[in-house]
Amino acid sequence: MDYFNYQGPQLQAEQVSLAAIASQFGTPTYVYSRATLERHYRAFTDAAGSQPHLVCYAVKANSNIALLNLLARLGSGFDIVSEGELRRVLQAGGNPAKVVFSGVGKSEAEIEFALHTGIKCFNVESEPELHRIAQIAARLGKVAPISIRVNPDIDAKTHPYISTGLKANKFGIDINSALSIYQQAAAYPQLKVCGVDCHIGSQLTETQPFLDALDKLLLLIDKLAAAGIVLSHIDIGGGLGVTYLDETPPHPAEYAAEVVKRLAAYPHLTLLFEPGRAIMANAGVLLTKVEYLKPGQEKNFAIVDAAMNDLIRPALYSAWMNIVPAQLKPELSAQTYDVVGPVCETGDFLGKDRALAIEPGDLLVVRSAGAYGFTMSSNYNSRLRAAEVLVDGDQVHLVRQREQWQDLWRGEQLLPA
Ligand code: LLP
Repeated sequence: MDYFNYQGPQLQAEQVSLAAIASQFGTPTYVYSRATLERHYRAFTDAAGSQPHLVCYAVKANSNIALLNLLARLGSGFDIVSEGELRRVLQAGGNPAKVVFSGVGKSEAEIEFALHTGIKCFNVESEPELHRIAQIAARLGKVAPISIRVNPDIDAKTHPYISTGLKANKFGIDINSALSIYQQAAAYPQLKVCGVDCHIGSQLTETQPFLDALDKLLLLIDKLAAAGIVLSHIDIGGGLGVTYLDETPPHPAEYAAEVVKRLAAYPHLTLLFEPGRAIMANAGVLLTKVEYLKPGQEKNFAIVDAAMNDLIRPALYSAWMNIVPAQLKPELSAQTYDVVGPVCETGDFLGKDRALAIEPGDLLVVRSAGAYGFTMSSNYNSRLRAAEVLVDGDQVHLVRQREQWQDLWRGEQLLPA
């Protein structure tokens, strides 16, 4: 559930009409709802009940520091995949002791920075990475907390680009060779073995693959305990899907409750979640203006001022995202349009074959754009990155100003004359 609803003909974010936001801040603009993201966060924590737990929000889904700060205020931890994301968390007032560091390519500098910062855990994705972390920790005289990201070889049944838990994927360590890697890790005095983690994919719409992965991890935990390696946490990753069209993913509370049930025999094991999309997707929309309606022989085009550089999911994954008018006009008859942007690529579309009752100058709203929207945006075609605003009840806060022209060439240099 989210807080973007029509009030009469006007689509609102909480108590503010999107039309008012467009006139104040222009378009294209990302609009987020505080109440929605807080509600989604709490769905996870409430369902975890008495099982010790920590939600480590996946920063890659949306890394605006105002949003990170709101989550930090609720006690959230963070799943990061780069030094940049860690710096954002710190900038937002996040607690580094609640940060887990995922990703297959952690550089020496990133590991060093994370060790100085004092993060909760490195999610180690390969044997060479384990040795690299051990070496750096020894050099700095630190103890590095680690978890091994295992690849449980589970088919998440999602888009191949966002499926990560199969043997054929680059992520994690084969669960069958995990024991020997844990033994190597335990032999390093400068490593503290804390946990096990996995992340099998994104936009999963069923609970079963998660539970299958969890079962495999619990078996490994038992095997490790028998070998004298006792873990303090289990991290089930992110990946819970959301409704873009007609998907029916389990509610976060339902999903979390199922996961917790499986841990009944492990009351001291801390459960970590790394949700990104489930917290953020439906907490944000992309607001855009119709520049032109262009009728064609085969297709009608609604050309809008947002493009693939602002929201690449439709172009990159053929993702279907709901597009609705900010203002309903029952007096108009709907026509079918491809909603496209100004970028010079045929792949620059936000939606295809959409029935919309619109006129030039109208506002359209791409729903469920809070996750993997702004964070995947670029300056392609030298377009300015969009503004981001956060609505809190009847208040609107600009949380990132629209880029300015000079931002486009910041850091670039002419050759000497
Ligand atoms: N943890 C790890 C280690 C991850 O790699 C990811 C996402 C997450 C957590 C969060 O997953 P979520 O809960 O958001 O599904 N750009 C794609 C999604 C890529 C997801 C990458 N990893 C999209 O727009 O659909």
